[in-house]
Amino acid sequence: MRVALSLLSLALLAACSEPTQTTSPEQTPPLPVVEAQEAQGWPHGYMAAVANPYATEAAVTMLQQGGHAVDAAIAAHAVLGLVEPESSGIGGGGFFVVYEQDTQSVRFLDGRETAPAGATADMFMRENTEMGFLDAWQSGHAVGVPGAIALYKLAHDTYGKLPWHTLFEPAITLASEGFVVSAKMAGYLPQMAQISRLDENPGSAQYFYPNGQPLQAGSTLRNPEYANTLQRVADEGPSAFYSGEIAQAMAAAAQAGPDRGTMTVADIEAYTAVERDAICGPWRDLTICSATPPSSGAMQIMLANLYDELVPENPTQAQRITAFVDAQRMSYADRDYYFGDPDHVEVPLEQLLDPRYIESRAANPTPPGDTPSHGDPAAVLNQDSVAIWAQDSTNEAAGTTHFSIVDSEGNAVSSTMTVESPFGSGRWAAGFVLNNEMTDFARGFDADTPEPANMIRPGARPRSSMSPTIILDSDSELYMVTGSPGGNSIPAYTAKTVMGIVDWGMSVQEAVNFPNIIARGDTVRVEIGREPGQSLADQLNAIGYNVQEVDGENSGLHVILVTEDGLIGAADPRREGTVMSGSVTQ
Ligand code: GLY
Repeated sequence: MRVALSLLSLALLAACSEPTQTTSPEQTPPLPVVEAQEAQGWPHGYMAAVANPYATEAAVTMLQQGGHAVDAAIAAHAVLGLVEPESSGIGGGGFFVVYEQDTQSVRFLDGRETAPAGATADMFMRENTEMGFLDAWQSGHAVGVPGAIALYKLAHDTYGKLPWHTLFEPAITLASEGFVVSAKMAGYLPQMAQISRLDENPGSAQYFYPNGQPLQAGSTLRNPEYANTLQRVADEGPSAFYSGEIAQAMAAAAQAGPDRGTMTVADIEAYTAVERDAICGPWRDLTICSATPPSSGAMQIMLANLYDELVPENPTQAQRITAFVDAQRMSYADRDYYFGDPDHVEVPLEQLLDPRYIESRAANPTPPGDTPSHGDPAAVLNQDSVAIWAQDSTNEAAGTTHFSIVDSEGNAVSSTMTVESPFGSGRWAAGFVLNNEMTDFARGFDADTPEPANMIRPGARPRSSMSPTIILDSDSELYMVTGSPGGNSIPAYTAKTVMGIVDWGMSVQEAVNFPNIIARGDTVRVEIGREPGQSLADQLNAIGYNVQEVDGENSGLHVILVTEDGLIGAADPRREGTVMSGSVTQ
């Protein structure tokens, strides 16, 4: 049965076989570790901070064998697609930002989903009205061509040290032999049956609702079909996924009713992951590097530098928070307006990051009660304007995951991966759910107004909020690896760890635990369930911001900090992640 739920409820929510479920309530999933972990660093120590203990373990299994951080990332993500299918998987896509110790360089590998050739700007419009988000989310039109497997291949070809097939062994073993269903995954299922067709779609219904009942936390689940898919990818390479039976199954699921999409096998065969320049910008004596559009990673550099312009000398903590809020409001407004797929639109990143523009923006902060709007960097810099777009305030749901990994040679991966909404579109193919990433495009369409930068275009990648970030010190050595899931809140969540650790005097774990504050559009959401959330909300209210007090801000921050004494890692207590570390004897 489906009932209407508010977008807020959805935001709070956050992939055919014959699965085996053995319900044994006394058996509980591994508990999350919420204490910061410390370990020896480069040249021998390694660390992984990942959203599920099975996946953290897969990562360190690779690192222990001397694998590159990229090897560990692929192994971890293949496991996440099995044990955390509500957040990401091989039916979706995402980004790797990679630091290479030898060259002290950062590169960005883009495995974002692409719009099928049949996608149209108005595919989420019905009788001149934008479809409801829930209907759009489950529509066949929402399914983009998955990028994860192609991203694995690009990353492995560029950096990998271990054999390709080794990377899939942990996931194949778990899928074949069974894993314990986590409380997080099980917790979604009753509500998903209320609001989505996850409990009705062929494949997903039998897998997640055996005998018509949602899987229970602590039960053991097997997914032989996923094991088979990964085994074929391990043996034959990505072509097993991007052509033939698996591609046909994906296309059929996207084209199935109700509300049939257009994705074809030809669309799937045409997919390529792309290596792009990472965006790196100075902040104090550090360099913040992140993913360029279609990601929102550049917002981290905008926001940090705006913050420095806004915060007074010798600030109180209250002044720091106000500067953080104002920096977010302005950088979100610019992000919403200018960011799109750089292969289809010109994103004026250089201008947006120009210190003269940042300075002029900070000189005119939007009054607390007003809605911030985008700036015009070209006008400030006396250049031709690229402010030609329509505003886009697309909502994004929270079906995403983030992991941070440092290997024993000092290489690192910051990766955020997604299926968009919890369990993506809920459409099932070959042992996994398909994404609904096309809802990250601007869904509304009006032929009489300017196009938004993030408009649906055939072959394009939808704008993402994902901001996998790597920060370097003044010697270009690795300093921090951070990022989070959380839809549109990702830039705010991620920036909080940067501010908390670098400017607010917090430990890594304190920064992760600190209440989330998200200042986008005309509201400032403050997480009051964590100290000192209520007093932060009161303080911002008193200044005149339109504060929404919220609980359960679903960040999933996984952070690793490099110090003189080694590595410090933290997992977000709001999810189920763990940090594991070790060292390789050389
Ligand atoms: N679907 C979440 C994101 O890309 O931001």
